Amino acid sequence: MDHFNYRDDVLYAEDVPLADIAARFGTPCYVYSRATLERHWRAFDRAFRDHPHLVCFAVKANSNLAVLNVLARLGSGFDIVSLGELERVLAAGGDPAKVIFSGVGKREDEIRFALEVGIRCFNVESESELIRLDRIAEEMGVVAPVSLRVNPDVDAQTHPYIATGLKENKFGIDIHAAEEVYVRAAALPNLRVTGIDCHIGSQLTDLAPFIDALGRVLTLAERLGEIGIPIAHLDIGGGLGIRYTEEHPPEPAAYAAAMSYQLGDRPYEILLEPGRAIAGNAGVLLTRVEYLKENGTRHFAILDAAMNDLVRPALYQAVQDIVPVIHDTEAEPARYDLVGPVCETGDFLGKGRQLALREGDLLAVRGSGAYGFTMSSNYNSRPRVPEVMVDGDQVHLVRERETVASLYAGESVLPS
Ligand code: LLP
Repeated sequence: MDHFNYRDDVLYAEDVPLADIAARFGTPCYVYSRATLERHWRAFDRAFRDHPHLVCFAVKANSNLAVLNVLARLGSGFDIVSLGELERVLAAGGDPAKVIFSGVGKREDEIRFALEVGIRCFNVESESELIRLDRIAEEMGVVAPVSLRVNPDVDAQTHPYIATGLKENKFGIDIHAAEEVYVRAAALPNLRVTGIDCHIGSQLTDLAPFIDALGRVLTLAERLGEIGIPIAHLDIGGGLGIRYTEEHPPEPAAYAAAMSYQLGDRPYEILLEPGRAIAGNAGVLLTRVEYLKENGTRHFAILDAAMNDLVRPALYQAVQDIVPVIHDTEAEPARYDLVGPVCETGDFLGKGRQLALREGDLLAVRGSGAYGFTMSSNYNSRPRVPEVMVDGDQVHLVRERETVASLYAGESVLPS
C-alpha cells in the first residue's frame, strides 16, 4: 500500500494534490512520499522482529539524501556498491557501522575509505578481492569484516538483466567452491569472516527461489561451523518484487515468514538488502502531455518526460502504471503510446494505454521511486529533473532541477 490516492478524481501524494506540485516545481518531476517509505521500511523491520536482524536499504534504488535520511532516522542500515553511495549515506546521517559494501569491482580507494569509516561488512565477490582487502587492511593496521557473496545457482525467474544468482551471471562465488574460499579467507590474518551473503535477483514475485537459495546458504553455514569457521550473520539480499500493474508479489511479512521457517531456531543474525520493495511505490514521476498526434492508426501522446528520466520501460520493457493526475472528463479516450521527446524509437514510457487525454494534461508514472532518478541521465542534453518529498501536507524540494549550464560546466574547448 502507498500514499498516492485519488480524492474526488484528483491524485494526491499524502495530503498534497500532485497538480499543486507540478504548478510549483514544473514537470517532469519525481515525487516521493515519506509516509510510504517509512511504512515499507517498517514492514520489513517488523516482519523480522523474531530474529536479530538489520534492514539495509539498497542505496542504488534511490540515493537522494532526503530518502536516505528518512530511513537513517528509523535506524536503517544501507547496502552500498560504490564510494559515491557510501559518501551519500554519510552525508545523509547514516551510521557507517550499519553499512554493507556489495559489488564485484571494489576499487582500492573505495575499500580504503570504507575501512577508514568502519563499515559493518564487505560482501566479497572473488578471491582476488579477498587478497586485495587483506593487503589494504594490513597496510592500514585494521581487520576487515568479511562475508562472501555466494552464487547459489537458482533461477530467480525474473528479467534476465536483473537475475544475478545463476552460474552464468558475473556475481558471487560458486556455492560449490565457496567452502574452499572460506578456508582461505579464514587464514588471511587481516580479515574476520563474519557471514554469508546471497542476492539472487530483483523483482521476484515468487517465494520459491528465495527459499531454495536460503536452504543452500544454510547448508553451507552449517558446514562452515563444523570446520571451525563460525558464521554470525546471513545476508539474504534484496529482490522482493512490487506490484507495478498485475503482479502479486508476496508481502514482506510472507517473505519473512518463509525465511523464518527455513531458519528455525538457528541463531544467525539476518541482514536484508531490499531496495525496490521500500522505495518503488513510494515515488511517482510527474509528467505533462506536450502534444497528441496520430500516425495512421496509432495514437501518440508526447510527454515532457523521456527515457533519460525513467529508463526502465526502454531498458527492460518494464510496464509501469500511468495514470491521470486529474481525471479529464472532457477528453476522448483512446489507446495511446506514451512517448518522450528523445530521438530514439525506444523512447517510450508506456504503450497501448487506454487514457482520455488532452494536450497539457498531467500524468503520473507510478512505481518510479526505485531505479527511477538513480538511473536517469542527461541524454539529449536534458537536465535531470527535480525530486520532491511530500510529508503529510508539507512539500520539500529535495533536489533542484539541473540547469543546462551545469551540464557542460566541466567541459572546455581546445585552445585556439
Ligand atoms: N543487493 C544487491 C547485491 C543487489 O544487486 C540489488 C539490486 C539489491 C540488493 C536490491 O534489490 P531490490 O530489492 O531492489 O530488488 N535497475 C533494475 C534493478 C537492478 C537491481 C540490481 N541489484 C530495475 O530497474 O528493475
